Amino acid sequence: MKIGIAADHGGFALKEKLKAILQNHYTIRDYGAGVYNAADDYPDFVYPLAKAVSNGEIERGVAICGSGIGACIVANKVPGVRAALINESYSAHQGVEHDDMNIICLGARVIGDTYAEELVNTFLKATYSGEGRHERRLNKLKNIEIKYKP
Ligand code: RB5
Repeated sequence: MKIGIAADHGGFALKEKLKAILQNHYTIRDYGAGVYNAADDYPDFVYPLAKAVSNGEIERGVAICGSGIGACIVANKVPGVRAALINESYSAHQGVEHDDMNIICLGARVIGDTYAEELVNTFLKATYSGEGRHERRLNKLKNIEIKYKP
């Protein structure tokens, strides 16, 4: 599975750690930041990651900032992205199984590195169930996106 990862300064250290671990099992594309810069802005990295998920360049994404909130807000601006801030393991898999979540957002200042790794692994191993009721809900969501297409 091809996955992408992105973080601002708030999530930079965690991104580097997760990347090193995930590289052993997945093809990873890093959308930045490439170096730690305390003055950088999360949209500059999370937007390219979200676009890559949206256009199918990568299948799943990991977006990290200090709280995970900014990353999540930016990612969800891109049509086709279903991103969520995840702090516990039930939602890390249920978000994929029911909602076809394709980007996990993490707050590096909120959760520990080891737990972040566990949440990402849970997210990446989960698969969308495709059950009728979930398809119906996803289609409703897609119809909302269509209404806002330029
Ligand atoms: C950066 O200091 C911080 O505001 C950012 O990483 C994030 O937490 C925003 O949601």
